[in-house]
Amino acid sequence: MSLELQKAQEYEAKNKNEIPEEEKPLFHVAPPIGWMNDPNGFSFYQGKVHLFYQYHPYSREWGPMHWGHSVSEDMIHWEQIPVALAPDMEYDKAGCFSGSAVEADGKHVLIYTGVTEDNRQNQCIAFGDGLNYEKGRKNPVITGDMLPEECSRIDFRDPKVWKNGDTYYLVAGNKNVQKKGQVVLFSSKNLEDWKFETILAENTTGTMGTMWECPDFFQLDGVHFLVCSPQNMKAQKYEFHSGNNSVFFAGEYNEETHEFHKEEAKSLDYGLDYYAPQTTELPDGRRILIAWMKSWDSCMIPDEQKWQGMTTIPRELRYINGHLYQNPVKELEKYRANSCCYANQLIEGEQQFEGIKGRTLDLTVEICGGDFKQFQIDLAHNDEYTTSFVYDSEKQTMEVDRTYCGVIRDVVCRRTWKLLEKQENLKLRFIIDKQSIELFINDGEQVASTVICTPIDADEILFNCQGSARVNVEKYDIVK
Ligand code: FRU
Repeated sequence: MSLELQKAQEYEAKNKNEIPEEEKPLFHVAPPIGWMNDPNGFSFYQGKVHLFYQYHPYSREWGPMHWGHSVSEDMIHWEQIPVALAPDMEYDKAGCFSGSAVEADGKHVLIYTGVTEDNRQNQCIAFGDGLNYEKGRKNPVITGDMLPEECSRIDFRDPKVWKNGDTYYLVAGNKNVQKKGQVVLFSSKNLEDWKFETILAENTTGTMGTMWECPDFFQLDGVHFLVCSPQNMKAQKYEFHSGNNSVFFAGEYNEETHEFHKEEAKSLDYGLDYYAPQTTELPDGRRILIAWMKSWDSCMIPDEQKWQGMTTIPRELRYINGHLYQNPVKELEKYRANSCCYANQLIEGEQQFEGIKGRTLDLTVEICGGDFKQFQIDLAHNDEYTTSFVYDSEKQTMEVDRTYCGVIRDVVCRRTWKLLEKQENLKLRFIIDKQSIELFINDGEQVASTVICTPIDADEILFNCQGSARVNVEKYDIVK
């Protein structure tokens, strides 16, 4: 083991106990100490789900990237295990950037971007047993020189690998000389010798960002999906916000020619904190998506907090009737306790329900019609703090507003998005885990993830209706 890796492992082992348990999310992955960003190497290996992540243990800010490591049997209860990769080689001295994992000949193989001190981004591999990883002797296995002329060698990162038949493929993020984001495709028979295949997709409209980070490519319910995180976008109506977005393109893929005909891009998440998603396929066939629940541009933590960043809840994906559905993995339901339900309640003005409160919750509110313009739900609420979700029945929009969640910096606090076609009932499922709120609308038709920074005793839930509405409320505490 290198000195750098040993130092990082010792540092995290020594310092993780400094962080009070109460500060940490109960069922989302967060770093033991320091900073985390993108999920990496999300994969099933030897009976467990592995999740690595971009990690800088030494401070709560981004720094030379390591790969932190957690494992789980059910994606809800996570066990933190020692940091897996440190920037300790000539070819990754400036960081082990994002990547993915695959099983090959019984080994767990990580593929990541090694960044050199002169800022070259090349793809590297490491072989392991689920706990210890050794970097490949042939690293880097893909260099920028293998790309066509018009591709950037500086921005070439985040390989996502998979196997089809006897061939490994990987997609990586890139941009072209016109500073438009694109995704490149490589193939290999042995994970060490790679061949450039094609530019799988690019920002042809010019509106989809200057660099595409963290691509993923997979089949789901008979359709192919390209997921990526474009940088530097201008806001577009209700669909995309300014800055870094995470989007997907559904499309048709020809496995022989590697042509991908993509449809229009759509947002993966309409909330305030969501980036760099990655998927994996489980042995039972489910395609699971997980992302970093934070925005590069906002800091939402109290000054004294010694860690920053967490992941979303893993989400099961389905594509049904031309629409992508995302729902929390069903394993979450095992952790439900203390159910409290109300059926067909009339809400006029402001109202609270006995027993409907808390900060680690699985809460579903179904609005079953009525006569109102706006319906508001306030979470993590008390006299001083609140985070509001406002449904506007005329505009058919939903808005999240965390202005009063306790934030003391000038960061984006409100986002509004358009709901899909009006349905008779509007079903809002909130997954609350202390400092995060994930909203799943109409059984996963749309999702919005948001981080808050609200003292934990602000645990009230308020309903407010201008007019009158009928609701069903179903609450479970999440208990581990
Ligand atoms: C995305 C990203 C990746 C890169 C990593 C560095 O959030 O910028 O493109 O590999 O973070 O930490």
